[in-house]
Amino acid sequence: MTSLRSKITGTGMYVPAGVVTNHDLAKRMDTSDEWIQQRSGIVERRHVDGTETPTDLAEHAARRAIEAAGVGADELDAIILATLSPEAEFPGTSFFLHHRLGVPEIPCFDLRAQCSGFLYSLACADGFIRSGTMRRILVVGAEVHSTGLEFSTRGRDTAVLFGDGAGAIVVEANGDGDDRSGLLAIRLHAQGEHARRLWIEAPGSGIHPTRITHELIDEGRHFPRMEGRMVFKHAVTRMPEVLRETLDAASVKLDDVDLFLFHQANLRINEFVAQSLGIPPEKCPSNIERYGNCSAASIPMLLDEAARSDRLRPGQLVAMTAFGSGFTWATAVARW
Ligand code: ACO
Repeated sequence: MTSLRSKITGTGMYVPAGVVTNHDLAKRMDTSDEWIQQRSGIVERRHVDGTETPTDLAEHAARRAIEAAGVGADELDAIILATLSPEAEFPGTSFFLHHRLGVPEIPCFDLRAQCSGFLYSLACADGFIRSGTMRRILVVGAEVHSTGLEFSTRGRDTAVLFGDGAGAIVVEANGDGDDRSGLLAIRLHAQGEHARRLWIEAPGSGIHPTRITHELIDEGRHFPRMEGRMVFKHAVTRMPEVLRETLDAASVKLDDVDLFLFHQANLRINEFVAQSLGIPPEKCPSNIERYGNCSAASIPMLLDEAARSDRLRPGQLVAMTAFGSGFTWATAVARW
């Protein structure tokens, strides 16, 4: 290993124009603005208009990140794209993005770790960079949930939570000995015994020889299923755990962190985590009220908003923590 360190040099995000409010959803199912806001903090979310695809969202976010990094797409060494709602079941989304960006024959792949997918992808990029095999990697989180939700009372528990969006970063090798900025530590975890507690069952090779049938569709088994309370319970336990573990690995004290960027699954989860650790609310920005849960895109979207405002300034410490389906959970700590 060399002394190379990974550094985020550019960020970008994109959401489709279509705003869908809680009141809009209440016209399509038995729910209410009050129920959704009280349980999740969400006021509205964005949905694609029927023409935009995950690749479109990813391309906008990626181009903004590349521009912010001051590099050309032809200077990238790889693309890693985290998603649970790919453009196509295979090959995913990254290959379509690869073509759209017009990059040379660099490697690209989709990474599936759901809401923790962005941090898992960042860990992969960090490994490539610190091993010295690559110098500049585009990491993207992109989701189009709205085309895969059940907008009826049967599907209301998940339909109200998710939104469409994309976030991207450029990660580069920082070999400059005087520059202390960059990724300090990253830790990843999973617990596969809970895989069925938040999942989409069909189409899948594990369920039926033809992967999808009219019966499966009638039963709604191609829509997300979630044990909400179980997810909540695990999230509020695992997020503080992995945050502390990663801060220890980075030799950083909790109080010294300037900004905590939590996955935007549910405002209540994040408030619970912040309270349990004694983190003041002003250190925990959120955008879930505007965008809902954008899964793998949520942390890079929040990071982009922080980086483009004065919330995150050079030299500050930022901790990013996610929890999601799998179950998966992760934290990355970086000096900006
Ligand atoms: N509108 C109105 N009522 C609803 C809705 C809705 N959208 N969804 C469910 N309900 C009803 C249920 O049917 C249930 O009715 P019942 O008592 O007659 O059976 C009642 O509300 C309570 O349902 P619960 O699931 O017990 O509600 P809870 O208070 O636990 O809140 C929630 C649900 C918000 C999903 C909560 O469990 C939660 O936050 N879980 C965490 C999961 C999460 O955030 N997932 C996001 C994706 S996962 C991720 O990214 C980590």
